[in-house]
Amino acid sequence: MSGNEERRVAQAFASNFVAPIGPQLDAFETTVRDYLGADVHCVGLSSGSAALHLALRIAGVGSGDEVWVSSMTFAGGIFPVNYLGATPRFFDLDRESWTIDVKILAEELSKAAQKNRLPKAIVPTDLYGQSSDLNALEKLAEQYDVRLIVDSAESLGASYKNGRKAGSGGDAAILSFNGNKIITTSGGGMLVTRHKNWAEEARFLATQARDPASHYEHSTFGYNYRLSNICAAIGLGQMEVLDARVARRREIFARYQSALTRPGIAFMPEPENTKSSRWLTAVAIDPAVTGVSREDVRLMLNEHQIESRPLWKPMHLQPLYSGSQYHGSGFDERLFEIGLCLPSGSDMSDEQQDEVIQHIVQMLDRAH
Ligand SMILES: Cc1ncc(COP(=O)(O)O)c(C=O)c1O
Repeated sequence: MSGNEERRVAQAFASNFVAPIGPQLDAFETTVRDYLGADVHCVGLSSGSAALHLALRIAGVGSGDEVWVSSMTFAGGIFPVNYLGATPRFFDLDRESWTIDVKILAEELSKAAQKNRLPKAIVPTDLYGQSSDLNALEKLAEQYDVRLIVDSAESLGASYKNGRKAGSGGDAAILSFNGNKIITTSGGGMLVTRHKNWAEEARFLATQARDPASHYEHSTFGYNYRLSNICAAIGLGQMEVLDARVARRREIFARYQSALTRPGIAFMPEPENTKSSRWLTAVAIDPAVTGVSREDVRLMLNEHQIESRPLWKPMHLQPLYSGSQYHGSGFDERLFEIGLCLPSGSDMSDEQQDEVIQHIVQMLDRAH
């Protein structure tokens, strides 16, 4: 927490809107919209997964449909496809951005169009704070008339070319305010969409799909997915420090990069004219060159009570999705084998980071 959240929560208590409705929720949606600086509508929800579930349903995804997704992502960015009875098809990352490989996607869309078997939606992940190639993706979505829902759960604060903010692209984007994200509402999410009718439908479905009537009337089923007004108040306090956190995370990334760059160590790239939030510092450690594996580094750090994590295990390698369709050269599989997320919290001190760096440098030097 940054300091102002308690005051905001006290205001929410004073308003007596201790419910998934209220002035703080309205203000939070407006604040995020203004931050994104785009002509979009924002709907505060209970999680990023809930936002994706709603977006996919509103996009018309249903039983028997395919949804094409980035494979290297968190489960919450895929499971909603299953909630709707649809099937995910997995795509590799490209080497220049570590986001969905748009060339492979274009090839497969062209083949699928010939067979009249296009997916209902495409869900690229803005990985570890990096925006996907929005221009290329939006062009493909338009060309093939496929809905584009960008999973920006990890990338609030990042920007794409010419300053366009991550989280404002596609037919819709989703954000997460889970506790591990760059800003949090303790748990929460948001659907951001350029379509007014999508936002209206999301609000309707997120509040149990109540038809207009004085009693409870339902012509379809809905969900209890709105964000609590109390949580939104936390979010208002957090939005005040978002830019400072992005600056700090970028500084942390740059310090790791300058201290650890050597043969066999590669940091997540940042394409020209884009600005990653560097939510997490992701690094690839090639054991053939450095003499140490990412697991050696992770276990060594763990012994010093320092937590680090392997990159996401590509979802096509998960037992749940064995036998699924996957397109790529296995770059994401390789990244999973050799990739590590280093401690990247905005409140980590320089001294703490120096300690992490020192342990890794010592290990690399010894192996060398
Ligand atoms: C890429 C990605 N998609 C979706 C989610 C789901 O968000 P939530 O945890 O708010 O449901 C997360 C994170 O939690 C994520 O990292």
